[in-house]
Amino acid sequence: MKLSFILNEVPVRVEIEPPELLADVLRDRLGLTGTKKGCGQGECGACTVILDGKAVNSCMVPAARVEGRRVVTIEGLKTAGKPHPIQQAFIDAGAIQCGFCTPGMILSAKALLDEKPHPTREEIRTALAGNLCRCTGYVKIEQAVELAAHALSLIEGGETDEDGR
Ligand code: FES
Ligand code: FES
Repeated sequence: MKLSFILNEVPVRVEIEPPELLADVLRDRLGLTGTKKGCGQGECGACTVILDGKAVNSCMVPAARVEGRRVVTIEGLKTAGKPHPIQQAFIDAGAIQCGFCTPGMILSAKALLDEKPHPTREEIRTALAGNLCRCTGYVKIEQAVELAAHALSLIEGGETDEDGR
């Protein structure tokens, strides 16, 4: 069947087999390998994407269910060749070790910050609870989300930090 949806703000149309999962369509048919597959069972969060504003495990979503909907993957975050402020915050906070969990962590963080721009540490922890990091970098990851919230509030307030971001 033909599947049409909005991927990273661009309309796409792709041929799929109905049982196919969104993670596989993104990676294998559309070449967006920033979406990682870890467990394939909804347990690790490595495959997180944003579907109509909510973070979801794309390994658990039948691709046919995204017909006409909006999907954001990690590839959709960069702006004019620069890292997105959340990506930059992960770099600045030293929140990336092997990097396998990072796209999913960043997309869970984005879904949270889009809805709640100034989350508490507890809210950050809850939002990232479905994302596992085998390198156990959780403290720095939580600090990165706080840093990202601060950076985004400066941008929204029309200010820039010392790097001009
Ligand atoms: S690969 Fe989807 S939750 Fe682990
Ligand atoms: S940085 Fe390695 S899994 Fe999280």
